[in-house]
Amino acid sequence: MLLSIFCVFHFSNRPSRSMKKVVPSVLLVFIMILYLLVKTTVSEPRAEVVNFQCGTQLENNITIFFTNFITMMERVRDQMANSGFGLTRVGTGPDANYGLAQCYGDLSLVDCALCYTEVHIRLPGCYPYNSGHIYLDGCFMRVANYSFYDEITSPEDNTLCGNATKKGSRFQESARRALLDAVREAPYNNGGFARPKVLVSGSENESAYVLANCWRTLNSSSCRTCLDNASASIMKCLPWSEGRVMNTGCFLRYSNRNFLNEEHGGGDAKVSKRVIIAIAVSSVAAAMIAAVIGLHIQKNRMLQKKRRGSNEAVKMASTLRDSSLNFKFSTLQKATGYFDDANKLGQGGFGVVYKGVLADGRDIAVKRLFVNNRNRAADFYNEVNLISSVEHKNLVRLLGCSCLGPESLLVYEYLPNMSLDHFLFDANKSKALNWQRRFDIIMGTAEGMVYLHENKNVRIIHRDIKASNILLDAKLRAKIADFRIGKDFSR
Ligand SMILES: *[C@@H]1O[C@H](CO)[C@@H](O)[C@H](O)[C@H]1NC(C)=O
Ligand SMILES: *[C@@H]1O[C@H](CO)[C@@H](O)[C@H](O)[C@H]1NC(C)=O
Ligand SMILES: *[C@@H]1O[C@H](CO)[C@@H](O)[C@H](O)[C@H]1NC(C)=O
Ligand SMILES: *[C@@H]1O[C@H](CO)[C@@H](O)[C@H](O)[C@H]1NC(C)=O
Ligand SMILES: *[C@@H]1O[C@H](CO)[C@@H](O)[C@H](O)[C@H]1NC(C)=O
Ligand SMILES: *[C@@H]1O[C@H](CO)[C@@H](O)[C@H](O)[C@H]1NC(C)=O
Ligand SMILES: *[C@@H]1O[C@H](CO)[C@@H](O)[C@H](O)[C@H]1NC(C)=O
Ligand SMILES: *[C@@H]1O[C@H](CO)[C@@H](O)[C@H](O)[C@H]1NC(C)=O
Repeated sequence: MLLSIFCVFHFSNRPSRSMKKVVPSVLLVFIMILYLLVKTTVSEPRAEVVNFQCGTQLENNITIFFTNFITMMERVRDQMANSGFGLTRVGTGPDANYGLAQCYGDLSLVDCALCYTEVHIRLPGCYPYNSGHIYLDGCFMRVANYSFYDEITSPEDNTLCGNATKKGSRFQESARRALLDAVREAPYNNGGFARPKVLVSGSENESAYVLANCWRTLNSSSCRTCLDNASASIMKCLPWSEGRVMNTGCFLRYSNRNFLNEEHGGGDAKVSKRVIIAIAVSSVAAAMIAAVIGLHIQKNRMLQKKRRGSNEAVKMASTLRDSSLNFKFSTLQKATGYFDDANKLGQGGFGVVYKGVLADGRDIAVKRLFVNNRNRAADFYNEVNLISSVEHKNLVRLLGCSCLGPESLLVYEYLPNMSLDHFLFDANKSKALNWQRRFDIIMGTAEGMVYLHENKNVRIIHRDIKASNILLDAKLRAKIADFRIGKDFSR
């Protein structure tokens, strides 16, 4: 969660020039990572994406669209931070950008900002299409070039039934009652929100938990219409233990698990608890920073001498540089088995990553960007060229690109041990991370960040440091992935 605070913080900051500003961000990285490793989760922003769809209409004028879109997203972010709800229009005519975002009623403002950060990272992926919507477990956003604020349902609405377990008739009975309560209460509550829970009869500890939330632009009768429709759909999920309906005007979810956050009154106490943890951790971190920076300056000198070691990736990169950084699209197509799902390694904010094997047997990771840079092939190439010169033991190497189309692809060194989150959130694998290793990962990440911030050719502010962007090599050394020169890199 603090990871995302960092992102929120950084979205509003321009790359800084002085060391004075580098230090606080390194400090933040420390806090975030330690926080994550210690895993003291108290309340949840529920920032998992459950549905993300982009429209099918292309933007009208790229220049105007982009300016409008970015302004709109930032205004909504400010509104969300103040009230958990954002409603903004920027521009007029076919290039207008309408945005509606809302956090569900049980999220504190801190968690809301965290949830919106995920939205802010993902939605630009819809470009070059001019509309899209995203439902997370804690918040929602929709953008389009017309006013959709009073829309209630549409044939494209989605239902998602959890398939982990099937429940007996008593649970089903409780779930139905809780759903009916929610549909009845939410339209008349402040913010169109209700969170009833109904105990399963004959059980002491099992309940059905429900969350219902209409967008605040709907009046009571529209809200009721939306939830009636949603509850008719969600009932079909029973007997599954969990169900969600994502309607145009509302969100409805039930579960046998208590996924709800504490009521807001308690929320503030939690926040201050978190702040205390953060302060405690940061005082430890502050001590370490001095050490890292000292170490780093020394290492920098040594590194310059014995640059280009036997490292496989470095060799490969220099071979490439002699010829070109440009990979043929068809080569990468073949290497990834025509972007076979079986080779999919993961998905980030700006594209899907596949594992690939080149004809000579070398492993690579290929990122297929959502956004096509074909129209700016030269810029794209220049940026790739610049970034590929950023070399450090704690940074994932960018080997090149398919810059000329028909799609925009980035080629990275392949790291077999995947990303940190695979270890942290897997009971078996997390055993491989003893404290020494965790400490080394933290130090490695910090060194990589310092290098990015102090790089002479191109100063890079990451903006999206999180466990899934910290990859681990065969010896479990940290390597930061997914850094870009500016926010325009993958557009
Ligand atoms: C887009 O809008 C800009 C600014 O009004 C204008 O200069 C440009 O010609 C337009 N581009 C297209 C393709 O219409
Ligand atoms: C929205 O954008 C599309 C494609 O650029 C355009 O055809 C349409 O007229 C726009 N809608 C409005 C209401 O301006
Ligand atoms: C909900 O509304 C959509 C669109 O109006 C409609 O297609 C669907 O059948 C409705 N669902 C139910 C269960 O009434
Ligand atoms: C459960 O749903 C997930 C995602 O929808 C799917 O990948 C998985 O195969 C399903 N499992 C079963 C047992 O149906
Ligand atoms: C509820 O209580 C029963 C018996 O006390 C126990 O077997 C069961 O594991 C508990 N379930 C949960 C979800 O805590
Ligand atoms: C609620 O909003 C809808 C759509 O904007 C409108 O048609 C309806 O008359 C409104 N109902 C009330 C009671 O204001
Ligand atoms: C962890 O390892 C045990 C024993 O090898 C295995 O049974 C279990 O499925 C593993 N759990 C996960 C989450 O991989
Ligand atoms: C991943 O790291 C482990 C150390 O826990 C190492 O033994 C293993 O070889 C690595 N996996 C691969 C595929 O390199």
